[in-house]
Amino acid sequence: MLDFRFTNTPGGRNQDAIAELLIQPRLWIPSGDYPAHIDWREKALAQIVDEKKRAMIAYWGNEAVGGIVYQRDPADPTRVEVRNLSIERHARGRHVASFLLRQVEVEACVDFPGATTIVTDTKHTNTGLILFASENGYYVETVAKLDDSNFAHNGVPDVILAKDLNPPASF
Ligand SMILES: CC(C)(COP(=O)(O)OP(=O)(O)OC[C@H]1O[C@@H](n2cnc3c(N)ncnc32)[C@H](O)[C@@H]1OP(=O)(O)O)[C@@H](O)C(=O)NCCC(=O)NCCS
Repeated sequence: MLDFRFTNTPGGRNQDAIAELLIQPRLWIPSGDYPAHIDWREKALAQIVDEKKRAMIAYWGNEAVGGIVYQRDPADPTRVEVRNLSIERHARGRHVASFLLRQVEVEACVDFPGATTIVTDTKHTNTGLILFASENGYYVETVAKLDDSNFAHNGVPDVILAKDLNPPASF
């Protein structure tokens, strides 16, 4: 059955869904890549409740199959950061992540007035994510070891990918 739904409405069932999606094994990335993930998850879930962070969730039927956590960059209000993106394996290859990301790009212009750039990051070894981002119009902004930044992982260089936010003409 094909029955997809996408939402960034906070609270209730959606809060439970993003909490579930952010459990480490469901991120489909090695746990060693994000040693502080458990602490980050707890903080992120609280910030989603407070609407400092947002979560865009994809449901396939009743199952949450993917999500994106995003926020305004606390250090630069013109930038929106994608802090987490993952799709369940059985839902991949259908452009669910691309559609989710496009909704984030559009909604970010509503949620965060004045934002002009959206960024995401990943370890330089995550070629799948880098190719996915490139397919979706992102360019490599920086490759750096950013231990003291929002993008610190575990000492391994990060690739920061960026895209200009272009809201639809109807805005
Ligand atoms: C990367 C990920 C989000 C892609 O999800 P998805 O829904 O399958 O992606 P889409 O179907 O929207 O992909 C769109 C295009 O991006 C490219 N792409 C996506 N995943 C790719 C991969 N693993 N390798 C190469 N290209 C890829 C393809 O060109 C694809 O289009 P095509 O299938 O028509 O060729 C998903 O594989 C995932 O969750 N990976 C593990 C988690 C992760 O690495 N998250 C990022 C942590 S920072």
